[in-house]
Amino acid sequence: MTDRTNQPPSPSSLSRRAFLKGGVVASLTGAAVAGPNGTESVSVTRESAIATSLKGKVAVTLEINGAARDVSVEPRTTLLGALRDHLEPALTGTKLVCDGGNCGACTVLIDGAPVASCMTLALDAVGHNIRTIEGLGKPDDLSVVQEAFCAEDGLMCGFCTPGFVMAITAELESNPRATLDELKNSCAGNLCRCGTYPQIFDAAVRAARGASK
Ligand code: FES
Ligand code: FES
Repeated sequence: MTDRTNQPPSPSSLSRRAFLKGGVVASLTGAAVAGPNGTESVSVTRESAIATSLKGKVAVTLEINGAARDVSVEPRTTLLGALRDHLEPALTGTKLVCDGGNCGACTVLIDGAPVASCMTLALDAVGHNIRTIEGLGKPDDLSVVQEAFCAEDGLMCGFCTPGFVMAITAELESNPRATLDELKNSCAGNLCRCGTYPQIFDAAVRAARGASK
């Protein structure tokens, strides 16, 4: 299984674990920090933002699905947490399952590459292009990959599905004529507990045919 926890292009490839261990935080300058009462706002360096790690919140703007979204998060907040719990309205299509970088259910695209959002700090995603399952098709206008999953019954409970769809989308956007092996490899970091792999890969191949027309 592919380890997606440290995959680029997460802006600094800094995992939550590394952060909590006091590792290096990248790309965090000039952010505004809300004080404990939520009203005070000051300009901070990334070092001072780190110092607020367990208390203060940092006001940042994330570029999600082509829109600028303002959000206030603690520096320790994961991108997944920001999407699901801090945005208003929330984006809950990205799923929380293992919360440890093992299952791929939380996969989003950052600058076009699949990333485990449960292992990526929200602050590290600032300045990068984030795409979630909500940014693909709409119910009445599905993307090629979403359409293929429907056609092939590529899901049962559906918890793993957004992650697989994002991973396959990333592969086909960079490699429209991907082979079955390449498609399987692109999903190496994704697990389906319901065991719908045959249908998932049928869907991936169907999408590849559609994507390469
Ligand atoms: S890899 Fe993030 S929830 Fe499993
Ligand atoms: S459809 Fe249930 S985990 Fe994949």
